Amino acid sequence: MADSMTDGLMRTKPIDRLRQDAEGSGHALERTIGPLSLIGLGIGAIIGAGLFSLTGIAAAENAGPAVVISFAIAAIGCALAGMCYSELASMIPVSGSAYTYAYATMGEFVAWIIGWDLVLEYAVGAATVSVSWSKYVASLLQDWGITLPPRLLHSPFEMITLADGSSVHGLVNLPAVLILCLISLLLMRGVRESTRVNSVIVVVKVAVVLAVVGVGLFYVKAQNYVPFIPDNTGTFGEYGWSGIMRAAGVVFFAYIGFDAVSTAAQEVKNPQRTMMVGILGSLAVCTVLYIAFAAVLTGLVPYASMKGDAAPVATAIKQTPFPWLQTLVTLGVIAGFTTVMLVLLYGQSRVFYAMANDRLLPKFFAAIHPTWRTPYRSNLFFMVFAALLGGLTPISTLGHMTSIGTLLAFIIVCAGVVIMRRTHPDEPRGYRVPLVPVVPAAGILVCLAMMLSLDGETWLRLVVWLAIGLAIYFGYGRRHSRVGRDAAR
Ligand code: ALA
Repeated sequence: MADSMTDGLMRTKPIDRLRQDAEGSGHALERTIGPLSLIGLGIGAIIGAGLFSLTGIAAAENAGPAVVISFAIAAIGCALAGMCYSELASMIPVSGSAYTYAYATMGEFVAWIIGWDLVLEYAVGAATVSVSWSKYVASLLQDWGITLPPRLLHSPFEMITLADGSSVHGLVNLPAVLILCLISLLLMRGVRESTRVNSVIVVVKVAVVLAVVGVGLFYVKAQNYVPFIPDNTGTFGEYGWSGIMRAAGVVFFAYIGFDAVSTAAQEVKNPQRTMMVGILGSLAVCTVLYIAFAAVLTGLVPYASMKGDAAPVATAIKQTPFPWLQTLVTLGVIAGFTTVMLVLLYGQSRVFYAMANDRLLPKFFAAIHPTWRTPYRSNLFFMVFAALLGGLTPISTLGHMTSIGTLLAFIIVCAGVVIMRRTHPDEPRGYRVPLVPVVPAAGILVCLAMMLSLDGETWLRLVVWLAIGLAIYFGYGRRHSRVGRDAAR
């Protein structure tokens, strides 16, 4: 009895079966995405609220000018995990990303955990960005003389001070709700239209970063880099090396999204090779841009003056003689955030689609729209879910949940590579991680260190989220699983 119970939890989905499912029936997803579009999809998902809202805060509160080292550490963790994603994606080029890899390697139970956990990365991540988007939009409108009612810009968990000095709770973050609905509707219409919109915005977004770096470089003051690593205050995470580590955990959010390209595997042409180019290519581009941006920002403004500054781009531009750049850059940032939400919500619907196809979730979510060829019901479901979160939850709660969930997913993917090398040594791989098991083990260590730098409340929320997931698995997925039912025949 105990044995059959464990067998059930450990049952894996054969790789051939995964490939067959991917090719599927006449309703399969279309293969329309090439390598450049895939890198675009990656950059579109990566550069967003993390860079444009967190860089200054992490410098001011944790690392000082050494925040560039934090960006490098976070990039190393992501690159190690990215290599592991690439190997698995080149072996198992189907929708569903880390969820699918886990199903093939570590069994249904771990697959369910990771699929459930990815909701934190994708849907909660999109909600996080929507709140930051709402802040930028509100401040742009304010510059144009339009003031939105403050209670419609904050969640009920936030206190706001009104013009007359009284304090009230927020009501709902309405712009966050609206943008999430708009993007979900766009995704429902189909990936080809969506990737075209994405490509245009990615160009704008990269141009914004390059403009800030290119212009700012000439106004950097060398004294702002001294001390480069401020002395630790005696508290863990406040400057010194512990501060650099804490800041790495914070700015890690800025890199989230590169793995979302792996959810597109089923719509990519020649995925065995293209997946690696998309994942590592987009990560490399963003790493260079981030380190340059952080170096220029901390050179323009004394780090201590950026405490609580969630709009470091504006701060940087104020140090140059070109304040008119401000509006243009803010517009670029706002547009840039939309693609992050686009790719994250895209990834989310594909993971859910894959889970429903395996019947770990109701069949309802596996339906592909007859004309749009998209998993529209998953899109619709996550439109409501993300909008509720974005409208009703403060940004820091959402952001930390996204980071911890993503780091957990990365760790499982790194472990998956090692397991797969043992269980399927001869399976063809379009890309192989070098020095296994050293590289995956290093990935696990760096990601775990960043996870541990997050606070206890975030850990508690993760545990609660996973507990809800377990209840659903044992109440539904385990009994309906297609792999399980086939095995019982
Ligand atoms: N990396 C994405 C961002 O920073 C999630 O917005």
